[in-house]
Amino acid sequence: MPAAMPRYFRIGLILAAAVAGTALGLLAFEIFSPAVPQRQVQQATARPPAAAFELLDHTGRAVTQTDFDGRAMMIFFGFTNCPDVCPTALSTAGEILDALGPDADRLTAVFVTVDPERDTVDRMAEYVAAFHPRIVGLTGTVDQVRRATEAYGIFFRKVPQQDGYSMDHTAVTLLVDPAGRLAGTLDPHESFDVMLGKARRLAGRAQPAS
Ligand code: NI
Repeated sequence: MPAAMPRYFRIGLILAAAVAGTALGLLAFEIFSPAVPQRQVQQATARPPAAAFELLDHTGRAVTQTDFDGRAMMIFFGFTNCPDVCPTALSTAGEILDALGPDADRLTAVFVTVDPERDTVDRMAEYVAAFHPRIVGLTGTVDQVRRATEAYGIFFRKVPQQDGYSMDHTAVTLLVDPAGRLAGTLDPHESFDVMLGKARRLAGRAQPAS
């Protein structure tokens, strides 16, 4: 480079080299970085996929989420030894089913235990029947239950007590649409009318039981 070259010209050359280098780098990145498949992009922006589970219902039948295809669901996770939160949620579910009248055919109320060690199939059958004849109880192995809670984003943990243990658990009822996707929640602090309104709207999107 001639010594007589003006300073601004040298700066201009350096800048041009920097721009060219950056452009080359970007080009290399475009060429060598793995392309993101279009399908993956679409999945990332679409609604979350249906939750998957494998459990036993309260009659002892093996069920998966596909057994509920086309049905709207109210799903509550809890345990039969729960002193108040679970009985309240299940009473409310029963009242909602009654208040829906014929529309209740389109909505399945499901109670999934987070305490499968104590909540056997027989125990679940006895428990759900005490609240409403149409509530479905689900249990399974510890591992199956853990996977179901993960699929629905439910928190639970065992809490040791003097005379055994209790369970902490998420206390909202999940509303699941007929495609198996989360459509909302019922919060125990909401009024009954608000919860019923949500359940009615959800049931309106589902098919009646065949
Ligand atoms: Ni509970």
